Amino acid sequence: MKIVELCALVVCFGALGCANRGQTDEEATAAGGGGAGDATSTGGESGAIGAGGANGGAVGTGGAVAPGGANGTGGSTGAGGSGSGGVTGSSGATGSGGAASSSGVAGSDAAAGSGGAAAVLAATPPMGWNSWNTFECNMNETLIKAVADAFVSSGMQAAGYQYVNLDDCWMDGRDSSGNLQWNASKFPSGIPALATYVHGKGLKIGIYETPNTETCVGIYGGIAPAVAVGSLGHETQDAKTFASWGMDYLKYDLCKGDRNSFAKMRDALGATGRSIVYSINPGNGANDVCPPNTCSLNLASIANMWRIGFDINASWASITSLIDQDAPLYSYAGPGHWNDPDMLEVGKGLAANEDRAHFSMWSILAAPLIAGNDIRSMSSATTAVLTNTEVIAVDQDSLGVQGRLVATPATNLQVWSKTLSGTNVRAVVLLNRTGGSASITATWSAVGLPAGSATVRDLWGHTDLGTFTGSYTANGIPSHGVAMLKITSSP
Ligand code: GLA
Repeated sequence: MKIVELCALVVCFGALGCANRGQTDEEATAAGGGGAGDATSTGGESGAIGAGGANGGAVGTGGAVAPGGANGTGGSTGAGGSGSGGVTGSSGATGSGGAASSSGVAGSDAAAGSGGAAAVLAATPPMGWNSWNTFECNMNETLIKAVADAFVSSGMQAAGYQYVNLDDCWMDGRDSSGNLQWNASKFPSGIPALATYVHGKGLKIGIYETPNTETCVGIYGGIAPAVAVGSLGHETQDAKTFASWGMDYLKYDLCKGDRNSFAKMRDALGATGRSIVYSINPGNGANDVCPPNTCSLNLASIANMWRIGFDINASWASITSLIDQDAPLYSYAGPGHWNDPDMLEVGKGLAANEDRAHFSMWSILAAPLIAGNDIRSMSSATTAVLTNTEVIAVDQDSLGVQGRLVATPATNLQVWSKTLSGTNVRAVVLLNRTGGSASITATWSAVGLPAGSATVRDLWGHTDLGTFTGSYTANGIPSHGVAMLKITSSP
């Protein structure tokens, strides 16, 4: 099998946690944190959570950030600062920011905590681009810089894409102190300089590693570098390296590594004090996936996003399979922690209807939107899909609810609904998985709206369709296509 097929990808997580971590130290300290008392509560997750609390103190509502716990880094920080980490964490969990102060410690962060909005890392699904789906190992700094340029010129950045992510194959061994080395042929200016370039565009940059001795390419592709470059056993050192290079996102890909060490990297990232989205792939391939309903790991406490299935490819079968795997997992998604059905294949050879359906479904599923095509040279049709801001707004809705399959009016004709912020507002995808065109009806009762009239907007046609009572029927939805709507009950 190809490397791509064999290795599972990881995605990210973490906004919450990271942000929290970053602020934890300062807050804890500032708080005057007497809090040493709770020092004992540190340790893995409490620590993380603690960070949440700190965050709460910092910005006001740690609570919302509860997921901050995930990043867990708080532990080290919190503990270090005042030991309040643990307690704080709990306040984060409960959602009362100020509570953070409850961290037992001094409470000054409590005071700080009240009011204000929490800075949750990955509060909405991360958006960006990754080198793997198109370039595999054939990437270098020239490419990445040109991609960053294209984020700006194509409108991707304006549409919300932020992370420019290097995948496997950037590394080249370790120095005599065990520090990771980038491949100097591919990155002659160095990865820190590349980060500076990307940051200079107002973008963020991500990197890739595995909890193993080698990376996925080495393990499955037989082209391992001479020196083991995986992060297993090097978590603290490598996390520090990534932070010092200016990395904002880590994709950590199991690749037959140690599934139980994902939390170690979470804590190591947290301890750096830098906000680094933590995207993981806890699966080992087609026969060993690790979705949150069956995984031995508590994924939401570990990462900002986690792969729920095997590697995607540019086929309708792959897209629909991942949709079906993600469908039952909606309860695990929320601000700071997302199900990840894998990177986008938009612009990589699917039919135009399929590209729209793929993008619509990833958006209604509140999936991370990580483009995988060559955005330097994409067609205007591909650009129009990836930068459809009305569809992206569904993905990025601040409530962070993952949409659900709410009706199947006939075999392979589906109605999906996602609750959006506001009063009685739903995003709806009518998905035609049959071989011919079809009509599909969304009833207000199925999508969760009160009886009566509602306005309907077409998110691909960018038009208001009118006011309807009780239901709306889209006619002529093409095979493997969608109608995507925003339905708002009339007051
Ligand atoms: C796995 C992942 C891919 C990519 C490769 C890199 O297959 O699922 O997304 O990261 O590893 O080797």
